[in-house]
Amino acid sequence: MNKLRRIVRAGRTIAGGANILCAACCIATLASGPVLAAPQKAAAKSVSLKSAAAVKGRYFGAAIDPALLAEPSYRKLAAREFSAITPENAMKWQFVEPAEGAFNWRAADEVAAFARSNGQKLRGHNLLWEDHLPSWVANGRFTPAALKALIEDYVGVEVARYKGVVYAWDVVNEPFADDGGWRRGVLYDALGPDYIAIALRAARAADAHAKLYINEYNVERHGAKFEALYNLVVSLKHSGAPIDGVGLQSHFVAGQTPSDLPAILAKFAALGVDVTITELDLRIALPASSQSLARQAEDYRFVVDSCLSVARCVGVTTWGISDAHSWIPSFFPGYGAALLFDDGGNPKPAYAAAISAFRK
Ligand code: XIL
Repeated sequence: MNKLRRIVRAGRTIAGGANILCAACCIATLASGPVLAAPQKAAAKSVSLKSAAAVKGRYFGAAIDPALLAEPSYRKLAAREFSAITPENAMKWQFVEPAEGAFNWRAADEVAAFARSNGQKLRGHNLLWEDHLPSWVANGRFTPAALKALIEDYVGVEVARYKGVVYAWDVVNEPFADDGGWRRGVLYDALGPDYIAIALRAARAADAHAKLYINEYNVERHGAKFEALYNLVVSLKHSGAPIDGVGLQSHFVAGQTPSDLPAILAKFAALGVDVTITELDLRIALPASSQSLARQAEDYRFVVDSCLSVARCVGVTTWGISDAHSWIPSFFPGYGAALLFDDGGNPKPAYAAAISAFRK
């Protein structure tokens, strides 16, 4: 065991002690019963995204920011409407281990506790992502062997912590550049594409039952990036690496939703993996008008229809709940109004459209 590995191990051992204590208190405070509870009876009576989706055997999910769960209206919508939860940021390596060996699980545990107490599936997002690594990893000068050991260790620790709690993991996020080449960064530069199989195998070793996904954007239409991801899934399957699903992020512009979407979902599914829409939003050039909101509603309907057209499309998740707390305005200046609920938490035309798509 080299020096780096020993340091990493030492950090993890200390954190491991804290983990056990925290896991015990989580277990004590959470409702007992299955993590993936059966659809709740109350939900079946009132109309909600989750009850509509359940009729078709799908889930309807949302990305959650645990800092907002203190707001009663946010909490209420999150519990009432959604049968799956993804932590928007809380499970990313950057937040979980901001300094080497210094783990902070508080926010991730809060999301897990919320999902569990509401009988919601929990999607783990994400284990490896070149773009938002902790700086000590991104700037670390690792040998390939040391980085491989670090990945195996980190993935093993995080997946084991949420074993039986996280239903599916985005094991690798955004492995490709928009031209279909590999996204460059410390992981790829040290290990080449092998880092993906290394992470998948480490995740499988830590939880034999969690579904293991690769999550990507701009692959929802035909083109070089789609081909690259498709070929990756083929080669992972061929080599026996554990890959269970492909997540299509689906950050779309209302009015420009790719008509290829059902075909793309079907092509991945035909490779023998589950597919799901992981980060749906449909941004609008601000200010939104009744026309643009109507266009957006049709696009939401189309995305739900696309998922329903493929048996292995297991559900749809939006990247947030209301327009008041969406990543869009800060990442795409001039755009917003991308979600199903407006700034005040009221359902938009797209909400009714999504529900009616499930109910027809
Ligand atoms: C975004 C979050 O929404 C922001 O709060 C954060 O600042 C950056 O990351 N693709 C992904 C998500 O896989 O993790 C990103 O989430 C949005 C794009």
